[in-house]
Amino acid sequence: MVTPAECLVLYEKIYTACKEPQCDAETGVELYNAVLKSPPGDVIEIGSAFGGSTVWLVGAAQEVGKGVISIDPYPEGDYVYASVTPIWKKFFKNNFLDYYDNIIQHNCDMTECVDLLPDTISVGFIDGCHDNKHADREFVALTDRLCHDGRLILDDTHLESLSLVAAKICEPQFDCIKTVGKTHAKFGRFKKELGDSIV
Ligand SMILES: C[S@@+](CC[C@H](N)C(=O)[O-])C[C@H]1O[C@@H](n2cnc3c(N)ncnc32)[C@H](O)[C@@H]1O
Repeated sequence: MVTPAECLVLYEKIYTACKEPQCDAETGVELYNAVLKSPPGDVIEIGSAFGGSTVWLVGAAQEVGKGVISIDPYPEGDYVYASVTPIWKKFFKNNFLDYYDNIIQHNCDMTECVDLLPDTISVGFIDGCHDNKHADREFVALTDRLCHDGRLILDDTHLESLSLVAAKICEPQFDCIKTVGKTHAKFGRFKKELGDSIV
């Protein structure tokens, strides 16, 4: 049994080790509940970093027998966090890929692994490159695969680029959107006509 309290302990360890921005614990609990309460199907995370959100997704997924597919190319070159992405990648391998048996990771942009993604997913968490172009196409790719009554979660919608995606694309399609945590994640159940309310 991986409880939210156990996830919180791991999350705090990660935070102490990495000291970098990541999803806050309130958002983490929402992610945990989204995995627990949605129908069967894999969980997709875009933007693994060092696992601040993964810890909640993979813990809950283990509870209900789901798999997690996490995507992060860990960009180098002129990427803003380029100096630390190799450290994040190693940390993620040691603490998640080598530790849990219900998670795999693709080290590329979503467009390069989209054919490897399952046709049906239960939860999608979008927290990768925060520009409009990326969020837009990631939202479309995951929406196409989202199961009946699945959850799609777009992080950092307080940023101008993502608020555009949220307003233009997400809001018309979601019947239940709320903002939680410091990172202003938006949570929704997909399409009103597809099922009952979550909450
Ligand atoms: C805000 S961090 C993710 C934080 C993580 N979800 C957490 O809560 O701990 C953004 C991550 O997106 C990754 N990233 C950058 N470009 C990406 C892309 N095209 N696809 C997926 N991830 C990308 C970065 O390497 C970085 O690790």
